[in-house]
Amino acid sequence: MAKVKTDKTPVDLLTAKQAKAEHARLAAEISQHDRHYYQQDRPSISDADYDALRARYDAIEERFPDLRTLESLSLKVGAAPSGKFKKVRHAVPMLSLDNAFAEQDVVDFVARIRRFLKLADDETIAFSAEPKIDGLSMSLRYENGALVTAATRGDGAEGEDVTANIRTLKDVPQRLKGKRVPAVCEVRGEVYMTKADFLKLNQRQQAAGEPIFANPRNSAAGSLRQKDPSVTAARPLGFFAYAWGQMSEMPADTQSGMIQWFETCGFKTNPLTKICRSTEELTAFHRKIEQGRSHLDYDIDGVVYKVDRLDWQERLGFVSRSPRWAIAHKFPAERATTVLKDIEIQVGRTGVLTPVAKLEPVGVGGVVVSNATLHNEDYIKGIGGGGEVLREGRDIRIGDTVIIQRAGDVIPQVVDVVVEKRLKDSEPYRFPTKCPCYLRTKVVREETATGEEGARARCSGEFACPYQKIEHLKLFASRRAFDIEGLGEKQIELFFEKEWVKEPADIFTLEARNKKIKLEEVEGYGETSVRNLFAAIEQRREISLDRFIFSLGIRHVGETTALALARGYGSWKAFHDACLKVAKDDEETIAEMDALDQIGDTVIASIKAYFGESHNRGIVERLTKEVKILDAEKPKTDSRVAGKTVVFTGALEKMTREEAKAMAERLGAKAAGSVSKKTDYVVAGPGAGSKLAEAKKHGVQVLTEDEWLKLIS
Ligand code: IVH
Repeated sequence: MAKVKTDKTPVDLLTAKQAKAEHARLAAEISQHDRHYYQQDRPSISDADYDALRARYDAIEERFPDLRTLESLSLKVGAAPSGKFKKVRHAVPMLSLDNAFAEQDVVDFVARIRRFLKLADDETIAFSAEPKIDGLSMSLRYENGALVTAATRGDGAEGEDVTANIRTLKDVPQRLKGKRVPAVCEVRGEVYMTKADFLKLNQRQQAAGEPIFANPRNSAAGSLRQKDPSVTAARPLGFFAYAWGQMSEMPADTQSGMIQWFETCGFKTNPLTKICRSTEELTAFHRKIEQGRSHLDYDIDGVVYKVDRLDWQERLGFVSRSPRWAIAHKFPAERATTVLKDIEIQVGRTGVLTPVAKLEPVGVGGVVVSNATLHNEDYIKGIGGGGEVLREGRDIRIGDTVIIQRAGDVIPQVVDVVVEKRLKDSEPYRFPTKCPCYLRTKVVREETATGEEGARARCSGEFACPYQKIEHLKLFASRRAFDIEGLGEKQIELFFEKEWVKEPADIFTLEARNKKIKLEEVEGYGETSVRNLFAAIEQRREISLDRFIFSLGIRHVGETTALALARGYGSWKAFHDACLKVAKDDEETIAEMDALDQIGDTVIASIKAYFGESHNRGIVERLTKEVKILDAEKPKTDSRVAGKTVVFTGALEKMTREEAKAMAERLGAKAAGSVSKKTDYVVAGPGAGSKLAEAKKHGVQVLTEDEWLKLIS
């Protein structure tokens, strides 16, 4: 059959034949998007576009009910499980919500309920109004108070068994609190990742040459669909409880009562949840939440209104895939169209070149945006680097009309190009082959941990590149490192430009050199501010070992890694000696470092590169003459586990893994990230996988959490 081009024809004007073809075409298209979304965690279109397709599909079925067969999408939710995990049949199906976009849709929703329940006009209907969390829904089954199964929604009837992974979430109790919990409770809610954690994860993904996630929802879904629960455990995921499935007994008779009950059981529920008693209150709630949306640390894509009385919910029941008693009032997408005026290359502290889109200013979700990230070279070319599914094969050019998005992210990104508006004489963007610094050093593509070409381009000038030097000085003086008050980014730029501070040690000799510099005569400075600055610098001559290590700006050595190194070595001398040996490829020292918790090949390679460079060794030597580095807190040495190496794997029930590691370290044990011959104990909780197998292979003693606690008590 010839392709019927009907996608712009209003549904009301479609002939039966056109409608049939359009219905089939939409079904295929929607199913394909569902597969991307549910099975590959990579949506192929925006939510707004998806909703539009779905609305059109539903409208066609509404007008031509014959088209609604058993295969109809309107009877399905999502997509069938991907096959990676064991399947779980939901005792009560997990359904979806109808959408409202305009205020009129909300008015219609309330009127429909009133009609259905035959309520008098003056009878108040109370609604529980809640934010619609943009994560993935989860059903948690508790039997006699203990968590037995956690399942994804899947196609609504059957989901995937992700119990081992879910056990690693701190917001999911292993046991329900409270004395008299019903024998069977299915608690449902949303798993999500905060915007800040999503950004951090993407940075790590990019550094490792792994694909980046388009938004926090995909990163949450990707993190949950891991075969190894320890990967999930390392990804911070949260959970809000807001619904239920099978319940052997009902602990409340309202939606809000159920929410309160979830809290007493040990769950987090959304603090913005509110009772509304009229359409006006509902739409006011929608406005208020939308206004505050960008300040929330998690993504929401609308609000949900639910009839509060459960007896009314029961009477109202369901229509095909959604309840009559609830509706999702969506927010307009935080997207906008504008013109890409230029592409600027920024050089970061570690020499990574980031292309930044300079845009014709445009309002997106209440904020004026004139810069957006273009991630990396491949992303501009449209051949990878993340989010590529949005514009397969399309490159981004200066002069293009582009679509930008603020998705769970304070840094907006360019997500698509309006190809029809491309200028005739536009040319593909050529990524610079030289660093924009005055040295014009060659730009090289970074290698990933596995030795393949990564997405990031880096200036090969390393510490000779002025951009990198200046960015390192900024990090050095920043709150997270030396925390020198009065030495912010602007001041560093000025001092660097004047050549008063060229490397960290210079900060500490500034006062002695001030007779010549005469800082008090510089615009913006006076006697007092100069005195304050020197006093602030003096105050920081003493520094903890972990901060000192972090302040060196070694690639891949962030605050957590620096802390792990500080704890592992205890003193600057021990750490420095080890680094110099690592730089010389001393195998024993490398193995020792590798055995430390959180330290792996990437960090070791970067320590080796840093200390292998005489220029860096000089910087460190001059700096250590100026400051006093305090030893890391000494671990106890009289405990039974002092000097032992322990690896925690799987889910722990009595404490978080972080807590367990910290406790082990306080007792003088080393908490390592991987199992080797040198490991003394592996403490394995439910869901332990490859590390447990490794332990068996090396004959390492395996303990349960309780056995471990007994050992250290
Ligand atoms: S209630 C029977 N409440 O939205 C309806 N859903 O399109 C049960 N969602 O699958 C869902 N926040 O993943 C409900 N406060 C909230 C929600 C919420 C997010 C998601 C959930 C659901 C989808 C419905």
